[in-house]
Amino acid sequence: MKHSPWMMTLTTTATLIVSVAVAALVYTYTSTTNKFRRKQEDERCAGYEALIGNTPLVKLEKLSKILKRNVYVKMEHMNPGGTGKDRAALAMIDQAEKHNLLPRGGGGIVVEGTSGSTGIALAALCNTRGHKCVIVMPDDQAVEKQQLLQYLGARVEVVPTASISNPKHYVNMARRYAKRECDGGKFAFFTDQFENEANMLAHYTTTGPEIWEQTRHEVDCFVMSSGTGGTISGVGMYLKEQKRSVKVVLVDPPGSCLYNKVKHGVAYTSEQRERSLRRHRYDTIAEGIGLDRVTQNFSIGLDCDTIDDAIFVKDQEAVDMAHWLLKEEGFFVGSSSAMNLVGAVKISQQLQENSTIVTVFCDSGQRHVSRFWSEKFIQERNLQWPHGDVSIANLLQQVT
Ligand SMILES: Cc1ncc(COP(=O)(O)O)c(C=O)c1O
Repeated sequence: MKHSPWMMTLTTTATLIVSVAVAALVYTYTSTTNKFRRKQEDERCAGYEALIGNTPLVKLEKLSKILKRNVYVKMEHMNPGGTGKDRAALAMIDQAEKHNLLPRGGGGIVVEGTSGSTGIALAALCNTRGHKCVIVMPDDQAVEKQQLLQYLGARVEVVPTASISNPKHYVNMARRYAKRECDGGKFAFFTDQFENEANMLAHYTTTGPEIWEQTRHEVDCFVMSSGTGGTISGVGMYLKEQKRSVKVVLVDPPGSCLYNKVKHGVAYTSEQRERSLRRHRYDTIAEGIGLDRVTQNFSIGLDCDTIDDAIFVKDQEAVDMAHWLLKEEGFFVGSSSAMNLVGAVKISQQLQENSTIVTVFCDSGQRHVSRFWSEKFIQERNLQWPHGDVSIANLLQQVT
């Protein structure tokens, strides 16, 4: 397609404006995130928050051998809240306290709409900071996340799944809850993980640099799904600034519109045609990833030309991968982590032999025992439970 000169100037100017805005945000933000950088050589650390970040990067030996590419995984489920969302949650609370949107020293109310992981991260941090935590979540997430939130002391409201244009969508409900509390004179803050850029900046200032150092600057490709888009945008942007040729690839599940947004510039998915729309918005078993809209945190990555490509992953491929991974490499992971790894396999053959691919384990299988790791649930969704014959042969056949 040919673009007119003014159109190209407009695009260049827009990219420039976004880059400058991001650079300014990063500048003001870095000072508050330096405390993330626990010195590797100092084994001691002060309190719960000091455990956030600096997660290991682990090579999957068998998969790397099969693919003839080095596949590394950033173990984000080893953060103290069991999720990479700990980084974003800490950054958003820090930012709010810094700008007096939450009282320093505690006494505020943190409100979020979340599929679970960010809520868990926030709830734990609210305990260390002395705030109350209110979480609104959709009803299509594993019940163990709900229970954990309650154990952590959060107030949990579970609402039916709805589209973002519906006032009853969990994010809209959370926003209104925070406003009502503020109107009533309380110190409430809606963290707004999808739009709050502190989320993406947490990954830009911590996860990205960690991966860069841990790979000894030898990373060639970063593969990640998107929930809010914070991880893919933040890590992708940092890695690309170090080495422009790093390929940043989105992994997208069924029912999400982001694959088409990256591939064709249009946020659309056939599952969301009016006639085929199911009661649940996302036709996937993957939790915490895939969207029917483009969020600010994802947009930043797109507008800065950070995200190069997208890979579509089927639910069955994620199930097979999770079982194979447990049997062959010993890791028990959740649905989004398995999707990420399928994405890494699919992209691997587009990269040269011996190149280095990095992806992320977002959370553990323990948070998915009632759905992704339940044989009954998998069969109810018309998927195959991989009994004895755990195999990713089909997947490998497609790519090798
Ligand atoms: C389990 C899980 N995996 C992956 C993600 C995606 O992370 P991000 O929000 O940074 O895109 C999320 C986000 O909520 C999640 O809950």
